[in-house]
Amino acid sequence: MTTEHSEKDTVAFTVEAGIAWVSFNRPEKRNAMSPTLNRRMMEVLDELEFRADVGVLVLSGEGTAWSAGMDLKEYFRETEAHGLQGTRKAQRESYGWWRRLRWYQKPTIAMVNGWCFGGGYGPLFACDLAFAADEAKFGLSEINWGILPGGGAAKVATELTSFRNAMYHALTGENIDGRKAAEWGFVNESLPLAQLKARVTDVANILLQKNPVALKATKDAIRRVREMAYDNAEDYLVRAQEAANSYDNEGRKEGIKQFIDDKTYKPGLGAYDKSKHQA
Ligand code: COA
Repeated sequence: MTTEHSEKDTVAFTVEAGIAWVSFNRPEKRNAMSPTLNRRMMEVLDELEFRADVGVLVLSGEGTAWSAGMDLKEYFRETEAHGLQGTRKAQRESYGWWRRLRWYQKPTIAMVNGWCFGGGYGPLFACDLAFAADEAKFGLSEINWGILPGGGAAKVATELTSFRNAMYHALTGENIDGRKAAEWGFVNESLPLAQLKARVTDVANILLQKNPVALKATKDAIRRVREMAYDNAEDYLVRAQEAANSYDNEGRKEGIKQFIDDKTYKPGLGAYDKSKHQA
């Protein structure tokens, strides 16, 4: 039983200037993902996904952790007590919101402020971009308590870093800090915790200037083409652009016009002024 928080409190969020700041909010349990938190996170993602005042979503953690992974008591032990059905239900709830996040309408950024373990690799990979504090610690700790890195964690490690890194990480259960996580490709960048939010805000603001239809088409394209042969990818990208045009045929034309005719910006140096054609 969760006693420390009401269900609603397990996830905190606020929307400011186009950015939805969402955080795991069980700091006293190092933001371990319980079934309650997983259900609440899906509700929060639902609520924010199509809001006009949200252009970018940032996922962070309250306190010293980003997320200490799955809750060993509430996610594993208590659901197993309900047999296969309990386990499968809990898996569906957690994998469900990670999948939702992988294909989220808005671009997403993981702001990894502290501990990131095991199951935490699911939402880490689900976010399009990731920035970590130098002080953060990443670990596949599953081996330390006697299981394999499931819930997608082994897959995430091999998607993001080399075979040797992933194997060493998973077999030894040794943690790496934010700097090493950046070197390995787990995150885009690592910087001192005190500078983390400012850097993430800057990146979110860059994204907010871009055409939102193009952002969604682009983030999906980068995820999809990784699994495709070249010719399939080429074809997918043709179709994806045509589909994007059906939602926003004017944006790219405006982008061409502001460069070629108006000469008000250079695409090589920044984004066109999208307010001109939305107005
Ligand atoms: N599942 C359940 N409870 C967890 C948890 C998890 N994954 N991670 C932390 N907690 C709980 C602790 O049991 C403790 O509860 P209590 O106050 O009721 O005793 C509380 O959160 C604080 O944890 P504590 O270990 O005292 O914090 P710490 O700051 O000293 O250490 C960690 C932080 C993250 C290193 C440590 O909590 C840890 O190893 N957690 C497990 C990480 C893990 O293996 N996750 C993989 C799951 S797939």
